[in-house]
Amino acid sequence: MKVLYAKESDQLSRWAADRFVEQLKKNPKSILGLATGSTPKKMYEYLGEDTRAGKVSFSQAKSYNLDEYVGLASDHPASYHYFMQEQLFSKVDFPEGANTLPNGVAEDLDKEALTYDRKIQEEGELDILILGIGSNAHIGFNEPNNVFEALTHVVELDESTRQDNSRFFEKIEDVPTHAISMGMRAIMQAKEVLLMAFGENKAEAIRDLVKGKVDPQVPASILQLHPNATILIDEGAASLLSEEDRESL
Ligand code: GLP
Repeated sequence: MKVLYAKESDQLSRWAADRFVEQLKKNPKSILGLATGSTPKKMYEYLGEDTRAGKVSFSQAKSYNLDEYVGLASDHPASYHYFMQEQLFSKVDFPEGANTLPNGVAEDLDKEALTYDRKIQEEGELDILILGIGSNAHIGFNEPNNVFEALTHVVELDESTRQDNSRFFEKIEDVPTHAISMGMRAIMQAKEVLLMAFGENKAEAIRDLVKGKVDPQVPASILQLHPNATILIDEGAASLLSEEDRESL
């Protein structure tokens, strides 16, 4: 696992966007793994600019997202479907039907989770996957647990996660209690993983991910076992690491 540091988060977003551009140049039919949250927004903005400038094309690519809230339809402004449409899909040239997210309003949620997992398995592996991290070290919505969940699954969200994400809702009661999240198998099978973390409220999670042991109570720590994972951290997120724990970008 490589830990890359830059003082400013924009430099890291640019670096991550460049990895996506290079991957799409190498294989225009790449299968991309995508994340939501405030962290990847700038990277998506860069990819939109690069598409408009003709530097990259998504016209043969496909994408799978990490997660979706249970109970929010794709037209709900706080849904991850909506977020992705706003932040990336409307800004780049994916063809119709190329973007898949779990359906949070499926009648049978467990079945939806397994179907989603099977779809990803049928693709083979994700070529490149972007991740954020929760302040409790979750990735996707793989919350701290006694085990690492392998498959896409329905998860009950931690109170701390609901608090963290309440900024996207009018009030805390509106934050869904459950989500569907990609499991660790698809994450660990991705050929390349980039995890970005910005700001001091991620510092503890980053310290535990980088310095702690592999532990399902620190879900992101599983990336220590990934053969091609890069952790991208800004000054705030790096504040509990020492200089020898990271390389500068
Ligand atoms: C949500 C998402 C995660 C994301 C996390 C961090 O909980 N399910 O995939 O990494 O938020 O969000 P932010 O980037 O806004 O800090």
